Amino acid sequence: MRLPTLLLSIAALTAAFPNTPFKTSKRNVVDSTGANFTYIGVNWPGAADVMIPEGLQYQSIASIVSKIKSLKMNVVRLTFAIEMIDDIKDNGGDVTIQKAFTKALGASKGETVWQQVVKNNPGFNTSTTRIQAFDAVAAELAKQEIYVHLDNHMSKGAWCCGGGDGNTWFGDTYFNADKWKRGLQYMADHGKQWPNLISIGLRNELRKPDKAGSSLAYNWQTWYTQVTSAADLVNAANPDIILFLSGLDYDTTLSPIPGAGDLGGGKKFQLSSFKYANKLALELHNYQNSATSCDSMKSGLYNNGFKALDASAANQMPVILTEFGFSQTDSSYNGVYASCLRKIIPEWDAGWTVWVLAGSYYIRSGTQDFEEAWGLLKHDWSGWRSSAAIAGLQAMIDASLK
Ligand SMILES: *[C@@H]1O[C@H](CO)[C@@H](O)[C@H](O)[C@H]1NC(C)=O
Ligand SMILES: *[C@@H]1O[C@H](CO)[C@@H](O)[C@H](O)[C@H]1NC(C)=O
Repeated sequence: MRLPTLLLSIAALTAAFPNTPFKTSKRNVVDSTGANFTYIGVNWPGAADVMIPEGLQYQSIASIVSKIKSLKMNVVRLTFAIEMIDDIKDNGGDVTIQKAFTKALGASKGETVWQQVVKNNPGFNTSTTRIQAFDAVAAELAKQEIYVHLDNHMSKGAWCCGGGDGNTWFGDTYFNADKWKRGLQYMADHGKQWPNLISIGLRNELRKPDKAGSSLAYNWQTWYTQVTSAADLVNAANPDIILFLSGLDYDTTLSPIPGAGDLGGGKKFQLSSFKYANKLALELHNYQNSATSCDSMKSGLYNNGFKALDASAANQMPVILTEFGFSQTDSSYNGVYASCLRKIIPEWDAGWTVWVLAGSYYIRSGTQDFEEAWGLLKHDWSGWRSSAAIAGLQAMIDASLK
């Protein structure tokens, strides 16, 4: 019986999912068997007003996850808002998803959307809470062997990001640094029950507030103090997961980090000084959508942080492009920007998560059922928005898998 024997030995060679915990080793993320892991995935937003992963009024969680799986992606960057944890800790506990919809969308429209959600996802009931919706998404991703990277996207649940949205920087109107750290600890600890949780992004797109107000000084020194104290707490809450550190200016620059440059006041980021140095990675975003030169994009990305991939860097670390994206309604997929990232990110053997899975949002900036032209999926999340753009994405996935 040659065939069954062969199948058996292939099965034995293919180690079982999820092979956690992951750690970093120089420029790579590695799983518990020592195999390199490249993040190849998509952003699934859950940090806006309703604070529930998007799309569930149109499709079941299982069908959405199957679409991600069909592209051979291996990870989802799942975003959440600190406000959800503030409610759990300070405001009498997590709210039910039914109430979350009526609160964010109004009694009548909210109830209609809730009915649609439960029709598509009959596992939910009137007692199901927002965090249980996250649990359900993580569980289905695990079932289909896809990893979860959590991302703290906002403090107050809302569309991100602008300079005047009160969520910009430590001490901004809604950005209480202590509550932020508490929320991160909570999610890191809560996520221990998700077998596929491998990492967490400490904060999405730090940025300069339009008005100084009561925020701390916008500089690398403040960044260092706040980010390292949060990292210590999150690592203590869950020592197994990798922590992604994002940069300044909407996470477009980490320039002093790879070379351990002066952050001001003599402070330097020295990877080797962390007890959990093998649990730290860097993340950048790029939206140079009107770029005309791939060479200049490449040198910009390199100097703004990707040089940490090089053995010559004082702090050699993985760097993941956790956001980039473009309209799915035109030929952007063929433009300089998209073609350039499709080429250089796999060439660098760097991980990435594209923005965005969503065909539409429950609500964005006040508009309900907001159409997302950058969404990989159609408005009702039933299928890909553009087969040509998806073919381009598939080429990037295949190049990264090689
Ligand atoms: C992981 O990738 C590095 C190059 O970045 C390579 O040197 C190493 O051999 C790879 N590890 C495995 C187990 O393939
Ligand atoms: C409601 O759903 C939650 C999970 O979403 C589950 O834990 C709970 O047992 C369910 N309650 C009922 C009455 O079915």
